[in-house]
Amino acid sequence: MMKDNMKFATKAIHAGQEPDPTTGAVMTPIYQTSTYAQKAPGDHKGFEYSRGTNPTRQALEACLAALENAKYGLAFSSGMGATDAVMKLLQPGDEVITGNDLYGGSYRIFTKIYMKYGIKFHFLDLSKPENIEQYINEKTKLVWIETPTNPTMQIIDIEGIAKITKANNILLSVDNTFASPYLQNPMDLGADIVMHSVTKYIGGHSDVVMGALLVNDDELYKQLWFIYNACGATPGPQDAFLVLRGIKTLHLRMKAHCENGARVAAFLKTHPKIDKIYWPGFEDHPNHDVAKRQMRDFGGMVSITIKDADLQETYRIASRFKVFTLAESLGGVESLINHPTSMTHGSIPKDEREKVGVTDNLLRLSVGVEDIEDLLADLEQALS
Ligand SMILES: Cc1ncc(COP(=O)(O)O)c(C=O)c1O
Repeated sequence: MMKDNMKFATKAIHAGQEPDPTTGAVMTPIYQTSTYAQKAPGDHKGFEYSRGTNPTRQALEACLAALENAKYGLAFSSGMGATDAVMKLLQPGDEVITGNDLYGGSYRIFTKIYMKYGIKFHFLDLSKPENIEQYINEKTKLVWIETPTNPTMQIIDIEGIAKITKANNILLSVDNTFASPYLQNPMDLGADIVMHSVTKYIGGHSDVVMGALLVNDDELYKQLWFIYNACGATPGPQDAFLVLRGIKTLHLRMKAHCENGARVAAFLKTHPKIDKIYWPGFEDHPNHDVAKRQMRDFGGMVSITIKDADLQETYRIASRFKVFTLAESLGGVESLINHPTSMTHGSIPKDEREKVGVTDNLLRLSVGVEDIEDLLADLEQALS
């Protein structure tokens, strides 16, 4: 049986990896080399230079591709490096349709870097796939979605959007960071490109910054590989090794994140200090039925607003946690608390972010895999 045809947990542990042919080492070695001896000038059969190819990174790329049911994987030195490579597929004059709630860094690269190069972005409410139809014209080349979104957990119907992009010959790229491949596989729902901040759930231990793109189409892969090699935002072998190690427990960690996430969400839902709560597992969460259809569970990300709190009161609460750590990022084994408007989403103008609920009293929780009793007690004391 091909390892790539196996079930998720088996792929997470084995895909792309064979015992080392020289020594039998079970773990893929860290090929810490920038270059490789070549048999003769002009012989391009083997490895040449590590910006383009490295065996440790290749093992990781094959594993990531297998987990997303994709043919090809490309690892980048950050999630933003991966996003940047997708944008480099575009030409001045092209148009992109994207959501109105996005990771702040994605909003920043679109508006501060690529708008400058003549690319136009439409930031839309994507709660209904048909909302994109009136913005499509012959210049529309890419639809970029994030689902669940960061930080208000909007759920976007990947299959519904893919039907429209396919009919109009537009690329659909899905940032699958919040769900991870364990909970959602956008490729199976019609996406052309899946993007990950590997830094988050896939790496899982808050010790690596990395990104990835997964694709099926041969021509698209060639174009993206060209950008990857030409622009050079590729990660080193040590980081590739750390992520290969982290991935081996992705399925175990995700189960625990989902379990703890559900308990934390239930606890906060009725807490007197909480005004709004965003977690796609609630039946009254917008597009909950879509989440049920396209995700296998609801994940460990929960956002809340604090009732009647101004910025100072929100800061006070965010600074009182003892088990949750106040930090940017998410998806690691340790629980983190983030204040989006001063941290991850600081680059989005106030009037833009407030339209979708990213207000100064919003806190985003990345629920880790510690003992749930300790997490609930920490929330209780910090909110008291
Ligand atoms: C949803 C999402 N996409 C992309 C990124 C960017 O990834 P990186 O920080 O690895 O560059 C992040 C980082 O927080 C994110 O949350």
